[in-house]
Amino acid sequence: MVFTSVDAVDTQQQDEPGGRRFPANFAWGSATAAYQIEGAVAEGGRTPSIWDTFSHTPGKVAGGDTGDVAVDHFHRFREDVAIMRELGLTTYRMSVAWPRITPDVGPDDLGPVNQQGLAFYRALVDELVAAGIEPAVTLYHWDLPQALEDAGGWTDRRTAQRFAEYAAVVATALAPDVQTFITLNEPWCSAYLGYASGVHAPGRQEPASALSAVHHLNLAHGLASSAIRAAVPTARVGLTLNLAWVHSPAGETADDDAVRRVDGLQNRVFLDPVLNGRYPADVLADTSEVTDWSFVLDGDLELVHQVPDVLGVNYYSPTVVRQWDGDRPRETADGHGDTSATPWIGCDGVEFPEQPGRHTDMGWPIDPRGLTELLLRLHREHPGVDLMVTENGAAFPDVVAADGQVHDQDRVDYLRDHLGAVLDAIEVGAPVRGYFLWSLLDNFEWSFGYSKRFGIVHIDYDTLVRTLKDSAHWYSAVVKAGGALPADG
Ligand code: FCB
Repeated sequence: MVFTSVDAVDTQQQDEPGGRRFPANFAWGSATAAYQIEGAVAEGGRTPSIWDTFSHTPGKVAGGDTGDVAVDHFHRFREDVAIMRELGLTTYRMSVAWPRITPDVGPDDLGPVNQQGLAFYRALVDELVAAGIEPAVTLYHWDLPQALEDAGGWTDRRTAQRFAEYAAVVATALAPDVQTFITLNEPWCSAYLGYASGVHAPGRQEPASALSAVHHLNLAHGLASSAIRAAVPTARVGLTLNLAWVHSPAGETADDDAVRRVDGLQNRVFLDPVLNGRYPADVLADTSEVTDWSFVLDGDLELVHQVPDVLGVNYYSPTVVRQWDGDRPRETADGHGDTSATPWIGCDGVEFPEQPGRHTDMGWPIDPRGLTELLLRLHREHPGVDLMVTENGAAFPDVVAADGQVHDQDRVDYLRDHLGAVLDAIEVGAPVRGYFLWSLLDNFEWSFGYSKRFGIVHIDYDTLVRTLKDSAHWYSAVVKAGGALPADG
């Protein structure tokens, strides 16, 4: 099965008073990432990634947490697939850990393919297929082999070349059971949080390196797309971006420049080269004091310009900006943690004001309108490109109640409202083919360690026992009802 194209969309069909329904063949899934759930970091021939190094560096991750064990998905994947089957999910977005596949990769040589590493993912894919669940595989969800970082990481174009070779290895091994390969997850985070603010691995605080990483990640997408398409001509190639719905609190024209800068640095610096084959001139100008972008070589933009068959949108929260007047301390509530260095290169005049209203446990404001706006923008600016919501969800401080259940009504509300926002976009024509809830399981939330719970399945970190939360039952009911969204919680 391939995520089926939905043509005539009739979401007005009412199942119950006030209820709305998603199109038939809409793909219903959940998402995870290798380092956040697998554990078994020294098993099956795996070598360290930048997240192993980073999490083992004192002070980098809350509580000193690491992904060494995580939720032990490496050993418990059959149980986890059984949960997805029980929930009725039709698809699953997982990632492959690069250091499991080519553990001896170096900047100039991919090294031998580790058959044990491939065997793990092969077994996982077989289990999913047997459960009637279609896998969608992300090739890079931030776990760069440490040896590549030691040689320059994403500031070195050879990393992009090795990534393309690795991508072809995985695609060849997992096709045709896997038909959808997403090259990168959120290159914004890899580049700016990894190389500018340093709150993510590899923890560098070098703005020029971050912009070099932006380009080499774009190049990695382009080269890998070509390599996958050559190796598996039937494959669907995707790219997942954490695009921002950027706006100012009052919609003031005085804030237009702030909106433009952040839109450029977060959205257009990825969308324009990949979809249109050029970098936005205003972003090059905004960042010219940091770099002259001479790492973009002749011919690179043709290589980068690989339009994805499906564009993945990760959305959690709105991005509200204001022009900073410089007379008072700048507000920096951008949702990406306290940093001594900013990820917002070339945005000195921008501030991120605190937002009123409801927030999740991450401190992220809740506003589902942003999801509709982003999907409609992509549909308007890039018609013909299929869209998927590849991540959406919320952290709340869940507890197991006396009755043994987890009553996470806040998460149910969040999911209902955001699914409604997806439907709003579909109803006016956006070609949204599926939705992946972040996340199936509570997991290692990067620099927040295990302190933030995003799962619809609760994990007891002492016993690793899995318990379905109320949100899992709610989501399952929506999926099993063929995408009928109840009018109330
Ligand atoms: C996204 C990441 C994902 C998870 C969620 C909460 O930025 O892609 O791994 O951490 O945020």
